[in-house]
Amino acid sequence: MIRNTLYFRRRGRTVRLDRFHPRTTVLDWLRLEERSTGTKEGCAEGDCGACAIVVVRERQGRLAYEPANACIALLGQMDGAELITVEDLARAGEMHPVQAAIADRHGSQCGFCTPGIVMSLFAHYHECSWPSRRETINDVLAGNLCRCTGYRPIVDAALDFCNGRADDQFSRNAAERLRALGALADKADLVVGEDGPFFAAPASEQSFAQLYALQPEAMIVAGATDVGLRITKALAPIEKIIHVGRIGELSEIKKAAEGFSIGAAVSLARAAPVLGSIDPDIAEVLRRFGSIQVRACGTVGGNIANGSPIGDLAPMLIALGSTVELRCGETIRRLPLESFFLDYGKQDRKPGEFVRRLLVPPLPAGAHFRAYKISKRADEDISAVLAAFRLTVDGDRITDARVAFGGMAGIPKRAKAVEEMLRGLPLDDTRRWSLAAAAVKSDFTPLSDLRASADYRTRVAANLVVKAIAEIAGANSNVTRIEDRKRLADVAN
Ligand SMILES: Cc1cc2nc3c(=O)[nH]c(=O)nc-3n(C[C@H](O)[C@H](O)[C@H](O)COP(=O)(O)OP(=O)(O)OC[C@H]3O[C@@H](n4cnc5c(N)ncnc54)[C@H](O)[C@@H]3O)c2cc1C
Ligand code: FES
Ligand code: FES
Repeated sequence: MIRNTLYFRRRGRTVRLDRFHPRTTVLDWLRLEERSTGTKEGCAEGDCGACAIVVVRERQGRLAYEPANACIALLGQMDGAELITVEDLARAGEMHPVQAAIADRHGSQCGFCTPGIVMSLFAHYHECSWPSRRETINDVLAGNLCRCTGYRPIVDAALDFCNGRADDQFSRNAAERLRALGALADKADLVVGEDGPFFAAPASEQSFAQLYALQPEAMIVAGATDVGLRITKALAPIEKIIHVGRIGELSEIKKAAEGFSIGAAVSLARAAPVLGSIDPDIAEVLRRFGSIQVRACGTVGGNIANGSPIGDLAPMLIALGSTVELRCGETIRRLPLESFFLDYGKQDRKPGEFVRRLLVPPLPAGAHFRAYKISKRADEDISAVLAAFRLTVDGDRITDARVAFGGMAGIPKRAKAVEEMLRGLPLDDTRRWSLAAAAVKSDFTPLSDLRASADYRTRVAANLVVKAIAEIAGANSNVTRIEDRKRLADVAN
């Protein structure tokens, strides 16, 4: 069954659109079509949060409030959701508790960032299930830049109202809104547009596989946190879009004896606690992945399929020994994740083939995992280098090693020479630690770019080899890192 009209909920009614260009962003629709200009445009690349909106979806029988950056989210992605913007919060001339606290605590000066900050905090107001903490709110605001007020009064305001008991017009009519969203959840494949440009959102994996096999030149869009920038910054003339966000099969997380199966369309926010349960370092890298808006929209499949040499997931998943599953038409195949990345911008993916899921094994007995993200800023920054290690130890000797780096080559890549030097290495032989670290030079010839020089990358990668061995050999992690691993483990659990 095919539906040719996009449906989403807005201000208590259903918006129905049967004509829009597939590249239309939510921000352009709000500001240029609906004329809701409370949502601002700052960077138009998902970084500043001035355009933050809240997208509400039904998840496991409840309403989930997910922040998104309207500048890079595509209008078609709103299908089946409720869209809330800053204009919708005040009721009958009375400010929403989030707005009132920001005003009371003097959390706004020029006010340009304020609508976005209010929307990120509005999502947290509904999602925090216990009194929020300053650290949590700092994370919530990592994707909202304020250039003049300073964050202390904003965080103080958030501490006033994020107490686990949302009480506003939205919590009061939640049941009715949930029913309204349920009424939009049909099994029809959405296709808006026909012969020329189109926006399609298949409702099943089967429909997706068939459509993509017929239209292999179409652009797959999952969270659009990469594709959105190609539209707003590179002005890429993308005419045909297939969105995977409605496909239940690609949104599943399953746990079996052989590990986790994570569907390609699972968001980074949903994947974080699952992958973080393997090791707290993964949780920490994912906490620093983009911002809360980017993690709510961006997906595991998007991060792998884009083939970026500086994507954060790939090195960690390669070190863990993960497998990627691909599908083309009716044919499904699997390959070790490291074999998926062939060359810069080139992956082992045929026309019409898509990433279906990632299979992530548990840590084998005796294995220790470490991952380190090196970036210029702690929050919302792309890695200069990402190092991931899975070292198996028997007694006081390393018996097996899988080491992968991002940012050191045109693709995320295993460090085979380092691995070779690590195998059989006695943990107390510090001279051999240095030899293993020096092997980084045999594995990689990195580039210099805006993020780091080649020399810096080589040195930091070698230092991370030593750091991983030192930590696994028993060095107090308070000495080797800012964030204590034990505290990270407590937070992850
Ligand atoms: C502000 C900001 C901060 C960011 N910070 C980080 C960061 O810290 N670390 C990091 O690694 N990345 C970061 N990113 C990049 C981006 O968020 C991630 O790469 C994200 O995982 C992409 O997922 P997506 O679902 O949004 O992909 P999309 O943008 O929807 O798609 C990305 C690419 O993958 C393809 N694709 C998507 N799904 C599939 C599929 N199932 N099969 C085949 N192809 C598919 C698309 O066609 C496209 O080419 C950041 C981006 C922004 C805007
Ligand atoms: S305008 Fe900066 S994140 Fe959207
Ligand atoms: S109040 Fe001016 S940028 Fe935040």
